[in-house]
Amino acid sequence: MSPAIPGYQAPTVTVSASLPKKPADKAVLIVPVVGGDDDGAATVVTSPFLDRKAVGEVEAALESLGAKGGTDQVTRVVAPSLPVASVLAVGLGKPRDEWAPDLIRRAAGVAGRSLNGTESVITTLSDLDLDAAVEGLILGAYRFSEFRSDKTAPKDKGLREITALTTVKKASAQRAVDIATAVATARDLVNTPPSHLFPDEFAKRAKALGEAAGLDVEILDDTALAKAGYGGVIGVGKGSSRPPRLVRLAHRGAKRKGKKVALVGKGITFDTGGISIKPAANMHQMTSDMGGAAAVIATVVLAAKQKLPIDVIATVPMAENMPSATAQRPGDVLTQYGGTTVEVLNTDAEGRLILADAIVRACEDNPDYLIETSTLTGAQTVALGSRTPGVMGSDEFRDRVAALSQAIGENAWPMPLPEELKEDLKSTVADLANVSGSRYAGMLVAGTFLREFVAEGVQWAHIDIAGPAYNTGSPWGYTGKGGTGVPTRTMFAALEDISEKG
Ligand code: BES
Ligand code: MN
Ligand code: ZN
Repeated sequence: MSPAIPGYQAPTVTVSASLPKKPADKAVLIVPVVGGDDDGAATVVTSPFLDRKAVGEVEAALESLGAKGGTDQVTRVVAPSLPVASVLAVGLGKPRDEWAPDLIRRAAGVAGRSLNGTESVITTLSDLDLDAAVEGLILGAYRFSEFRSDKTAPKDKGLREITALTTVKKASAQRAVDIATAVATARDLVNTPPSHLFPDEFAKRAKALGEAAGLDVEILDDTALAKAGYGGVIGVGKGSSRPPRLVRLAHRGAKRKGKKVALVGKGITFDTGGISIKPAANMHQMTSDMGGAAAVIATVVLAAKQKLPIDVIATVPMAENMPSATAQRPGDVLTQYGGTTVEVLNTDAEGRLILADAIVRACEDNPDYLIETSTLTGAQTVALGSRTPGVMGSDEFRDRVAALSQAIGENAWPMPLPEELKEDLKSTVADLANVSGSRYAGMLVAGTFLREFVAEGVQWAHIDIAGPAYNTGSPWGYTGKGGTGVPTRTMFAALEDISEKG
């Protein structure tokens, strides 16, 4: 079945060993430049694709404009000897031996963001790192124009064609295109407003994406959820006129020795707080409260596209947290899937309630690893800011996920789950309370709550992306405003690593 809803279409990427003789009309050539010494202008990074004459033209133009080649600096110049309309020089700042892992991706992203209507680019950035250059360009050029009435405007059509120059023989950009497509798919889901993305619609989109990728798909509706005892999903969802769902997507790629990985993502399509209602200021940002679910869906689809030799099973609870006459009340007690009872002291701590059900269900499959991700706590942003996810869980696996995340530039950071915090989740009437009575360590308290539901022997990681899932600040690198797609690349890096090393 083809997806009922059209999905994200990446630009086409052609890998080439030579500069095209007849590039597309108005094509732009993107070249990396580094900073000169104190008084010097920018210099073009040495490339076999540019002869001395072209380099001279670009450098002379940069010098006359006073461009220094600093990080994030982009300068458009003309180089008459080259067969392109213009050259976009993008600054890498430091000399080659100081380039951080994510630097090429970010520079490509800055270039991608500044294209402003260009449909066709050629780049030599790809000769430094093909995957990073392609991912950065696609993600930097990403636009969400679904809800613009004038979709034919050039800026909304955006980048359609990338020619990636490289001297590497038999290079392929397919992996990078698939990764960028997954991130963009997660962004599209996050950017779709709550008027249009509610649990049933979200489940349908997950199904369409999953079936197109050859995944096994199962959807539990509200009746099935109530019957099977998913008290957390039902409790959170019952204040809304749009009933909850639980979606399961399975990629079965394991050969004889392949591992099994469970993915779980928070899918609150809108979080008002429920009866413990949130303040009006910035409440609209809670459209991003399904960012974990979006990333998990994109990641399992990507695992299938990349044919990873492991089993990956995603369990995605979806609900809308609304206040109403049918909503759960502060003080209510619910029974999670699996039997644990929870006193709901604050209906705005809803993520952990739907996740507890999903984690218990995911562990019934006996996975070797479990990665769960969620826009779970405002405390994450207090502790780590808007770009650094916090990772908690089993010590070894937590550190492994954090290291992989740092290597690919999503930069998750390991956080502890101190034993004493469990005391704070004691309830006078139920097995657990859903919040502690204290303001301290809110991110870790949420992680401590989730730990209660992870089966013994499962290596697990919980990634809190409350800030990083949604960019409310200025665009930077390959990240525009709105949905970021984080932590899709972190989870995929973990799946690739597990495929290789077990
Ligand atoms: N979805 C929010 C967390 C959040 C906050 C995400 C800001 C993105 C940006 C979550 O459901 C929530 O409301 N958490 C509460 C927990 C508290 C009641 C213990 C919070 O962080 O205030
Ligand atoms: Mn909430
Ligand atoms: Zn929430």
